[in-house]
Amino acid sequence: MKERLAQIKEEAVRQIQSSDGLAKLNEVRVAFLGKKGELTAVLKGMKDVLPEERPMVGQLVNETRESIERLIEETKAKLEAAEREIRLKQEVIDVTLPAKKNRVGHRHPNTIALEEVERIFVGMGYEVVEGPEVEYDYYNFEALNIPANHPAKDEQDTFYINDKILLRTQTSPVQVRQMEKGKLPIRMIAPGRVFRSDEVDATHSPSFHQVEGLVVDRQITFADLKGTLAAFAKELFGEGTKVKFRPHHFPFTEPSAEVDVTCFKCGGKGCRFCKGSGWIEILGCGMVHPRVLKMSGIDPEEYSGFAFGVGLERIALLKYEIDDMRLLYENDDRFLKQF
Ligand code: DAH
Repeated sequence: MKERLAQIKEEAVRQIQSSDGLAKLNEVRVAFLGKKGELTAVLKGMKDVLPEERPMVGQLVNETRESIERLIEETKAKLEAAEREIRLKQEVIDVTLPAKKNRVGHRHPNTIALEEVERIFVGMGYEVVEGPEVEYDYYNFEALNIPANHPAKDEQDTFYINDKILLRTQTSPVQVRQMEKGKLPIRMIAPGRVFRSDEVDATHSPSFHQVEGLVVDRQITFADLKGTLAAFAKELFGEGTKVKFRPHHFPFTEPSAEVDVTCFKCGGKGCRFCKGSGWIEILGCGMVHPRVLKMSGIDPEEYSGFAFGVGLERIALLKYEIDDMRLLYENDDRFLKQF
């Protein structure tokens, strides 16, 4: 019995010492001290031991168990310390590394320009409305006095969903939608995205933005249009800004004009920015064509109105002196952050 216990102890020590981890050590513990372990088996064999020898053998078994337990505990503490050491090495944090910067976005120049335009017109009592980007041919052309085969349809070639539905080429259809609602007077601006099948270059993009304006009431005259747009230009480009109306043609207005503002760089003397002319074109406008009023259910004998359309990118490019429209669409935040 004695030799058997000594053998068990020797084997246990050997296995404990060669345990390379806590899991292995636990296996050894179960194998020697567990319910079905070696020592338990010895205890079960006590019944075959002579009664007078039992206390002595019992003590020996206990001593063996205790020494194995002690060795296991010591080894366990050593293995745990070693594992903690390894984990600490893996989890090491280099506090000298540069921190990750939290990058905050920035408003797009288009958005800044739009908010400025909206602020000015809302201040004059205008309502901001929106219309669909996918539009009926009827609203985009027909109801604006641009019938099928009208040459203006070539200039504003776009993307057709089918022969009745297209991506709108201008925000002017929102005028018609608003007039059809039948609530007068109207004082509205309608900002939004428009589309044309244009090649991309420094001044063109197949998708850009416009802000449409419409006023319909009794006794609205060209003088109202001039006063309104002059006030708008002064607010946007500075108090000293003058406006000039050049006769033009739009199918949905009569008379129609294009509006130039005095160059805000040189004050009208002529510089590189305004190509020496002293003037910069900013929008198209006119008195709403009686036929357009009538098609939308408004009596042109009783009511009149003016309308205008501004290219939003054009405003943003002018205001922030950006010389290539493509920069607006590249989403490079090094560029966008400057405004
Ligand atoms: N829709 C025109 C365009 O895209 C711009 C425009 C001109 C709008 C005159 C108007 C207007 O409302 O009266 O070229």
